[in-house]
Amino acid sequence: TPRVFSGIQPSGGLTLGNYLGAMKRFVDMQDAGTHETIYCMVDLHAITVAQDPKDLAHNTRELCAGFIASGIDPEKSVLFNQSQVPEHAQLGWIFNCVARMGWMGRMTQWKDKAGKNAEQASLGLFAYPALMAADILVYHATHVPVGEDQKQHLELTRDIAAKFNHDYGVDFFPITEPVIEGAATRVMSLRDGTKKMSKSDPSDLSRINMTDTADAIAKKIRKAKTDPEPLPEALDGLDERPDARNLVNIYAALAEITPQQVLDQHAGSQFGTFKPVLADLAVEKLAPIGTEMSRLMEDQAEIDRILARGAERGREIAAPILAKTLEIVGMVR
Ligand code: TYM
Repeated sequence: TPRVFSGIQPSGGLTLGNYLGAMKRFVDMQDAGTHETIYCMVDLHAITVAQDPKDLAHNTRELCAGFIASGIDPEKSVLFNQSQVPEHAQLGWIFNCVARMGWMGRMTQWKDKAGKNAEQASLGLFAYPALMAADILVYHATHVPVGEDQKQHLELTRDIAAKFNHDYGVDFFPITEPVIEGAATRVMSLRDGTKKMSKSDPSDLSRINMTDTADAIAKKIRKAKTDPEPLPEALDGLDERPDARNLVNIYAALAEITPQQVLDQHAGSQFGTFKPVLADLAVEKLAPIGTEMSRLMEDQAEIDRILARGAERGREIAAPILAKTLEIVGMVR
């Protein structure tokens, strides 16, 4: 069976962007039963920028609760935090020696995050995509569901696999396929439809957090930036209207229909009418997840057990692949 791997950083709360662009797809792929699914809280990635240790531990557990509340079954999927499977970091080092400085320097996320102050950025932030390649390839994963913003990192993962195979004259690492599908591969800020919804945006009104109450969810949608035009009949009528397009996409992803079907149902509606309908749908779909997350967070020991068990299962798959890699490279065992 083909193998799926994906990860989410425990660097803050889970947003609607993470949920629609990634988590919901993870659940779909798990439930399809056609793939072996491995999902990870990437705590080693999170510390590429400063994290308060207490917050990191809390966010890792809360993210685990988010996975389970969204429908990930820790029996069906392998679910764990990255640092408990040391093979990720070990293969990450090998890939640091395969990847080229020039490749890393071209990553747009590196350029955005390090900005003009690259001298002060951590070395880990620069090397980040090589560790991400290791996350995937230490399981020989073939499919990686992600949002649009991870596309370039997955191209680099393919480059690293190909260079390793070429340099050592082997056909060992698979060339993985990104899975970037659905209406919500890029959920935008509710305050600015040209900016990605992100956990680091200073305005809390810009995003929906999966732990938001029903009232907060409804309020944020009511206050979302829009325009005075009614919804058009055809999708190209949204081309110059990023805020409107974003709400249509969110509706489509929540209702599990296409954006065109949203327009078929709501063409001619003003946002004064459409927003309350979207708010009801969002509350119906999201509020129960938030409630379940806080319930799960009451039993921290159980969450830690789930993560430890998931890590054991992860290591069973990763250890032989790492061992074989080290042998190929010439490390005496
Ligand atoms: P991260 O933690 O930033 O985001 C987790 C997932 O959520 C998606 N996402 C979005 N999708 C749609 N709209 C948005 N506004 C939005 N914001 C975030 C991301 O695309 C991602 O799929 N580098 C990764 C974590 C990672 C990883 C991996 C992913 C580490 N190793 C191996 C896949 C495979 C990251 O920072 O995601």
